[in-house]
Amino acid sequence: MAAWLLALLASSGLAGKVDPKYALDLTVYHVHPANVSSVPVDMDTGDLYGDLFFFLDEFLLPLQCADPSYFFDKFECQNPEHRKGDLVATQVHLQVDSRFGNYAGCNLCTGIDPFTRKPCKKGTYICDCMNFTDPSACDHHFVGRETVQKQFVHNVSKACEVALEESCHPYRTSQFRCPRCLFQHRQRIMESCDKATAMSYCPGFAFPLCTSDSKDYDCWHMNIARKTSGAWYSTFREGMCDKGPGHCSWEVKKVKTIPERCLRDRMVNTVEEAGPECFNRCGTRNESSHCWVSCFFGTVLGPESHNSTNVTGLDREILGASWTKAFEEEAEGGCRQFTDPLDESIVV
Ligand SMILES: *[C@@H]1O[C@H](CO)[C@@H](O)[C@H](O)[C@H]1NC(C)=O
Ligand SMILES: *[C@@H]1O[C@H](CO)[C@@H](O)[C@H](O)[C@H]1NC(C)=O
Ligand SMILES: *[C@@H]1O[C@H](CO)[C@@H](O)[C@H](O)[C@H]1NC(C)=O
Ligand SMILES: *[C@@H]1O[C@H](CO)[C@@H](O)[C@H](O)[C@H]1NC(C)=O
Ligand SMILES: *[C@@H]1O[C@H](CO)[C@@H](O)[C@H](O)[C@H]1NC(C)=O
Ligand SMILES: *[C@@H]1O[C@H](CO)[C@@H](O)[C@H](O)[C@H]1NC(C)=O
Repeated sequence: MAAWLLALLASSGLAGKVDPKYALDLTVYHVHPANVSSVPVDMDTGDLYGDLFFFLDEFLLPLQCADPSYFFDKFECQNPEHRKGDLVATQVHLQVDSRFGNYAGCNLCTGIDPFTRKPCKKGTYICDCMNFTDPSACDHHFVGRETVQKQFVHNVSKACEVALEESCHPYRTSQFRCPRCLFQHRQRIMESCDKATAMSYCPGFAFPLCTSDSKDYDCWHMNIARKTSGAWYSTFREGMCDKGPGHCSWEVKKVKTIPERCLRDRMVNTVEEAGPECFNRCGTRNESSHCWVSCFFGTVLGPESHNSTNVTGLDREILGASWTKAFEEEAEGGCRQFTDPLDESIVV
């Protein structure tokens, strides 16, 4: 940053604080291993409904990851933030600068950057700008933001769906022949489809469209986004307001961490209570069985959500209320607070 700008910020009393002209209070959430910082430095978080999208999507993993024909890189099957075990969920009250920038995919490094495939330091968080045409488009001094709608909800016109299905239906599930078919029929397809939609037709390319012959989990995946909407945020190290002077874009007001299992059990109970007839048919709760997962998404997204974009089911506010309740004081019915061993020694 230019020295004159630093001086200006310092003299105007803004050093290390979010500029009050743009200040916005925001409550965000993230699920993470218990032994990493609850303060989201170089991490992604979501607002209530944005994180609910991520959370609900996880209930698909037993089906996706067990399907041998699911060749999408299985990144989520290996994502350590999804692993069962010692996971926690954190609610962070932030004050942010509302001049948002581009969202970045920030992930826990397991030795190899999941997007760029470059080596990275194990146990640290790394952020890759999700603008692939211009990877420098994420200015880390500002908070990145992306809506779930924009990322996942493709509204496909009937004309586009017909063009795609008539041209490439036989190759719909072929990792290699489907993209080739799209290319061969690009002229006809591009008359009725926008590029992003066309590109999402072949599974493994982006996020498959939900058509009548799609896998149920592909339809549910897209339909969760239709249900929740919400937003995701990237809070970069460079933009954090700490003791140092200079421009910053996010400040932590309060953090609360609970065991992920508690949050999960409450969400599961809320859904099971809303659809007892279906769940009763599955016997003992087994979150990996097709029966249970079908009831879960049938209840949340409605009976037609497995093969169409007709989303009904539970009001998202019911799920949202169950979620926020988990973060209330224990005496008021919230989950037991998890004490972050790193709280006293957060490395920033
Ligand atoms: C957290 O725990 C996991 C598994 O127990 C371990 O592999 C990892 O290195 C730990 N990370 C940190 C930052 O301590
Ligand atoms: C990527 O960044 C460029 C340059 O900042 C911008 O013009 C473009 O709109 C961005 N694309 C997306 C998808 O955000
Ligand atoms: C898709 O359609 C829904 C419902 O009609 C609408 O709310 C949403 O804004 C549309 N999304 C896009 C990206 O056009
Ligand atoms: C969707 O699945 C239902 C069964 O649940 C079936 O009756 C219906 O015909 C399917 N819809 C389409 C468009 O294939
Ligand atoms: C749960 O369902 C999965 C998938 O059908 C099955 O492999 C597993 O054995 C079941 N677990 C129990 C405890 O029944
Ligand atoms: C959507 O699904 C619901 C529940 O199955 C059904 O009542 C409704 O008619 C469907 N709407 C459309 C437009 O198909």
